Amino acid sequence: MQDKLIDIKNEAVAQILAAKDARELEDIRVEYLGKSAGKLTLLIKKLPGLPPEEKAIVGQFANEVKQTIEETLQAQKKAIQKEKEANIAETEKIDVTLPAVFPPEGHLHPITKTLKEVYEVFKFMGYQMITGPEIETDEYNFTRVNMPKDAPSRDAQASFYLDTRNSKIYPGEYLLRTQTSNMQSRALERIRPPFRVFSPGKCFRVDDVDASHGFEFWQFEGILIDKNITVTNLLGTLDFILKSLLPGTEVRFKSGHFGFTEPSIEAMIRCTICGGRGCPYCKNLGWSEILGSGMTHPNVYKAAGIDPRGWTGFAFGMGLSRLALLKNQIDDLRVLTNSDLRILKQF
Ligand code: DAH
Repeated sequence: MQDKLIDIKNEAVAQILAAKDARELEDIRVEYLGKSAGKLTLLIKKLPGLPPEEKAIVGQFANEVKQTIEETLQAQKKAIQKEKEANIAETEKIDVTLPAVFPPEGHLHPITKTLKEVYEVFKFMGYQMITGPEIETDEYNFTRVNMPKDAPSRDAQASFYLDTRNSKIYPGEYLLRTQTSNMQSRALERIRPPFRVFSPGKCFRVDDVDASHGFEFWQFEGILIDKNITVTNLLGTLDFILKSLLPGTEVRFKSGHFGFTEPSIEAMIRCTICGGRGCPYCKNLGWSEILGSGMTHPNVYKAAGIDPRGWTGFAFGMGLSRLALLKNQIDDLRVLTNSDLRILKQF
């Protein structure tokens, strides 16, 4: 019987030491120490049948075997646990030699890029940048730039007036500015001539949205007020700006009409779509309108509280959104207001 006990001990210890996880250890425990059918348990159950002098010795030995098996089980359990922890530490260890994962990098929006170019051109010519409100009064947006309430030219700039119900604001007093020309009067008031400034910003007009129309768009206004300024100065300035912003373009001027300038001049550039052959975009003219301009009307000075005598100057307004489209070969205005990164990443 003692031999059997020794065999069981050796067998059990060998199995325990080879076990790899807690489940295996539990199986082994049941195999040897299980209450009803454990190998050692069954053997111990036979003890009462032994002669008394043998019973004491074998009984003690059986207890030692049981203890050894239990201790070995415990020790192996701890060893397995420790190894598991070491493995986790190993896999979670930070490898500082691995190449870094860079966050995705963005880039400037086409409008911002174009604005920067515009800014450089104006800076070169000695113009300062000023900005003004997008929510503007009817007074500054129209009246002070010589577009009184009954001016027919207001109709061409269908406006978003603010909903002033339940407020103390007079209906029709505030609107989303329709043009950066609101800055003409503001600049005259704020800076006082002589000065040369430009002012970029968002403008809004009621319009149905399609590839070439939107209800929001960017413009920039250039304003120069000084002594002895002539139309020639204006034409030279526009020619320089357009050729700097659109290298290689051809420029042509024609007369126009705007309330705030007299005389008024429109600049056309060679159609970038058809190259001048004529297409639906340029209405078969071969040229497309790019900006409005003219010599500042005396009423604009007066509205800003300045005596027009002695001052001469000009102003011009150009579509910044339009320019961004031309420069990036984008044929749909909506791209500029789209926030879909799959589209914006292309520019
Ligand atoms: N504000 C005009 C528009 O949005 C453009 C313009 C025309 C601006 C003539 C000017 C100007 O400064 O002199 O259609």
